[in-house]
Amino acid sequence: MNLVPMAEILQKADEEGYGVGGFNVNNLESLQAIIQAAEEEKSPLILATSEGAIKYMGMDHVIGMVEGFLKNTDLPVALHLDHGGSFDAAMKCIRKGYSSVMIDASKHPFEENIAQTKEVVQAAHAVGVTVEAELGRLVGSEDEITVTEREAAMTDPDEAVEFVERTGVDCLAVAIGTAHGVYKGDPELDFDRLKAINEKVDVPLVLHGASGVPDTDVQKSIGMGIRKINVNTDFQQAFTAKLREVLADDPELYDPRKYCGPAREAMTEKVKEKIRAFGSNGKAW
Ligand code: G3H
Ligand code: ZN
Repeated sequence: MNLVPMAEILQKADEEGYGVGGFNVNNLESLQAIIQAAEEEKSPLILATSEGAIKYMGMDHVIGMVEGFLKNTDLPVALHLDHGGSFDAAMKCIRKGYSSVMIDASKHPFEENIAQTKEVVQAAHAVGVTVEAELGRLVGSEDEITVTEREAAMTDPDEAVEFVERTGVDCLAVAIGTAHGVYKGDPELDFDRLKAINEKVDVPLVLHGASGVPDTDVQKSIGMGIRKINVNTDFQQAFTAKLREVLADDPELYDPRKYCGPAREAMTEKVKEKIRAFGSNGKAW
């Protein structure tokens, strides 16, 4: 497959000071929406697939769809495993041609996270594949936890330096107050922490759980070293809201193309908005 390593996309973003979306692909329509938006905005593209999404679509179908798309585009595209839970999951993707993998061992103690990440880095780098890892944990927005517990889950700047040095990872996902899914209250990002991490760590940083975070906050974080911004829920909501609307307007509808088509268009618009907010529009090479 004619993919580029994600590190290449992030390196250019780092040199020029913008962010690139790590957009989750969950089915054919979401892939089409992301592709259409990136084509229209001339943006480099990071297609992210979680293990769950790969299982849902089938690995060979993921590869087939992406290969089909690559035949018809000049955009720089990385195919990325999002939140890979094990060495085996990462290797499976690499063998299938992925150009980037995330090993997420962030739920494990520091040393175990380092050991698992290092093992993936060694294997992935041998074949030119980018590796993202995570230090600190994203706690759920709905979790009943205290401020102290929330803080304890965040990325420690000094640990981040040691982690990057000892693992050789290409980019680092940091926990600075975002959460996956729908926020109950307003997300509060710890910009002082991000600034401290960015001053000490020299690899591009990654922001997970960016749905529901105001664009101005994401832009501020891009100014502090965030180069990849993961978005999933915002797009799912845009898709599903339109789908509900279309079905409610015409309860007789039964052809999936008639309700998935408009939903796909709504998602495309949302992806375009995010691309422009992150500043990767016009940055394809
Ligand atoms: O890895 C994927 C993301 O971090 C997406 O999070 O669904 O809250 O946008 P989100
Ligand atoms: Zn995530």
